[in-house]
Amino acid sequence: MDQTPSPRVLVIGALGQVGRELTEALRARYGAEHVIASDLAPAVGQEAPYLSLDVTDRKALTEVLAQYRIDHLYNLAAILSAKGEREPQLAWRVNMEGLLSTLEAARHTGVRRIFWPSSIAVFGPHSNHRFAPQYGQMDPTTIYGISKLAGEQWCHYYHRQYGLDIRSLRYPGLIGYKALPGGGTTDYAVDIFHQAVQHGSYTCFLRADSALPMMYMPDAIRATIELMEAPAEGLSIHSSYNLSGMSFSPEMLANEIRRHIPTFSIAYEPDFRQAIADSWPESIDDTPARADWAWLPEYDLASMTEDMLVHIRAHYAAEVRS
Ligand code: NAD
Ligand code: SER
Repeated sequence: MDQTPSPRVLVIGALGQVGRELTEALRARYGAEHVIASDLAPAVGQEAPYLSLDVTDRKALTEVLAQYRIDHLYNLAAILSAKGEREPQLAWRVNMEGLLSTLEAARHTGVRRIFWPSSIAVFGPHSNHRFAPQYGQMDPTTIYGISKLAGEQWCHYYHRQYGLDIRSLRYPGLIGYKALPGGGTTDYAVDIFHQAVQHGSYTCFLRADSALPMMYMPDAIRATIELMEAPAEGLSIHSSYNLSGMSFSPEMLANEIRRHIPTFSIAYEPDFRQAIADSWPESIDDTPARADWAWLPEYDLASMTEDMLVHIRAHYAAEVRS
């Protein structure tokens, strides 16, 4: 039996799409009492242990890290791409000042390991559109992407200058059933399942042929934990690893949903989010992740769609019963 003591963990942004599932997985792995969830919402009504915490409040964050002697810190607090274009100042403050707050507070309190996610949004119109490599042209057009690219370099800087062990993944668009979409450009691929099950139709804000890198949430959660538990000696990238799961367009996803709901219909009304999607690659090369810590995705478009529909149907059936 493994005698290694469980790390004391703090998850910031724990009520979001990734945060809910990651917190659940970490609690199952390390014990609920070792994993503190935190977000902006007040503690009332939240499952303990939970703290109300603003990631940009460096003083409060430092106090929490010291008081609970946190070993592993996951900072998931962010304003996603589409919401960030509506509120660029807010996006910069949460994404950038929030990260710096995390890095400084961790440096002064003995946090042993940090996870902070980056995104495919670091790529831009001059990146390799078909298969974006780990290193290459990056000219993000959104404030979200700019903050992620700058954030990656801050992470690398803190590793070089202060020896902080920071681990990061460039998540593709993530698809999960445990939380509602949070303001991202790839979030159509979450919303479409809710609309398909509830109404049998969906109006998509991207074009039919707009292919993007995507990943089912169970793969993303597993990748995160595998990277956080990988031996430091094997890791060659201290900015952020490309991470790949699958790639599909709205039309491909709609066709897959139709295999389960034959009457499902989709219409296309592209809006400002189309320009964001057009600036991102359709797939990315994650060779370094596969080589350094043996990353391998499990889900493809067919298995993800099948599993999503099982859970979304169960969710709405339970709602009707209650
Ligand atoms: P989300 O929008 O669903 O959740 C973000 C959470 O952060 C929310 O619960 C929100 O309340 C919280 N938050 C916002 N401002 C805060 C603040 N000042 N202090 C503390 N908490 C604050 O986003 P998500 O999809 O869960 O994304 C989590 C992380 O993964 C983010 O860094 C995001 O950039 C990254 N990511 C997500 C995707 C995706 O497709 N969902 C893709 C790539 C990267
Ligand atoms: N999925 C995210 C978004 O669309 C990208 O990180 O904003």
